[in-house]
Amino acid sequence: MTRHLLTIFDLSTKEIESLLIRARELKAIQKQGIECRPLKGKTLGLLFEKQSTRTRLSFEVAALQLGGHSIYLSPHQIQMGRGEELRDTARVFSRYLDGVVIRTFEHKMIEEFAGNSSIPVINGLTDIHHPCQIISDMLTILEKKERISGIRLAYIGDGNNVAHSLIEGAAVMGMHIRIASPKGYEPDNRITEIARQKAKETGAAIEIMEDPFEAVDNADVVYTDVWTSMGQEEEEGKRKSMFKKYRINRELMKKAKGDAIILHCLPAHRGEEITDEMMESPQSVVFDQAENRLHMQKALLEMLMGNRKQ
Ligand code: CP
Ligand code: NVA
Repeated sequence: MTRHLLTIFDLSTKEIESLLIRARELKAIQKQGIECRPLKGKTLGLLFEKQSTRTRLSFEVAALQLGGHSIYLSPHQIQMGRGEELRDTARVFSRYLDGVVIRTFEHKMIEEFAGNSSIPVINGLTDIHHPCQIISDMLTILEKKERISGIRLAYIGDGNNVAHSLIEGAAVMGMHIRIASPKGYEPDNRITEIARQKAKETGAAIEIMEDPFEAVDNADVVYTDVWTSMGQEEEEGKRKSMFKKYRINRELMKKAKGDAIILHCLPAHRGEEITDEMMESPQSVVFDQAENRLHMQKALLEMLMGNRKQ
């Protein structure tokens, strides 16, 4: 059976733990300049329907550094953009490539693609999930806090793709998560409920609330994302007024633990979901977090496409 990564729940706790160990090894290997080529002769496709800086760069650089190749495909440049069916595109990709990262709008697009693909399909972000972001964020939390289980993370803002994958990640890894969103912008209740079931095995607490100060109270990690995600541009004006209270600033950070770290998946809109002061503060580790996308992407590619025995 072909393995895909469409949501965090495609990975077990044990698998995420192995990915974390391997990502740390691969990071050390790269810093020491040691060659490591488990993707030798392998080709990764990137089919992106939305913009990307980190996801594209981290996967392309990861494939190259591991001895493989990558090909970036915009739907407008391939026949898909002229109406070639997804199921046909998926089958053709499977004859040339060894894996594909897809960034798209509807989550069901990536499910349909995976259903017709005999190569691993990796979710590089859909409207509903962003699993690659969250598994690499686990690496950052582990590096900075030396554990994940029992950590208290507060997410401030939109109940979006990043929030959904964070909820799932917390459930799988035993991390306590509080999400503070304005009414009407909470995470999808079905995702929260399934995650709560899963959390019974790991002891994670998953709480959804409206008050950002309550969410941040005594937190180890404070996380935010943009108020307006890709594809929601026409709602930007309304969102700017709805989310005004959902901003990481000095006052909010006073409620968190003194040594709390600030995470943001980036890109950031300074002055909206986070102040310039907090982006630049010593508590902010957002660029270490961005770097870790590369190391975790490598571990993931090696697991799904590599020649190395697991
Ligand atoms: N965080 C993240 O996925 O960034 P990009 O949109 O730049 O890929
Ligand atoms: N929620 C954001 C994440 C970007 C990495 C978006 O979907 O645009």
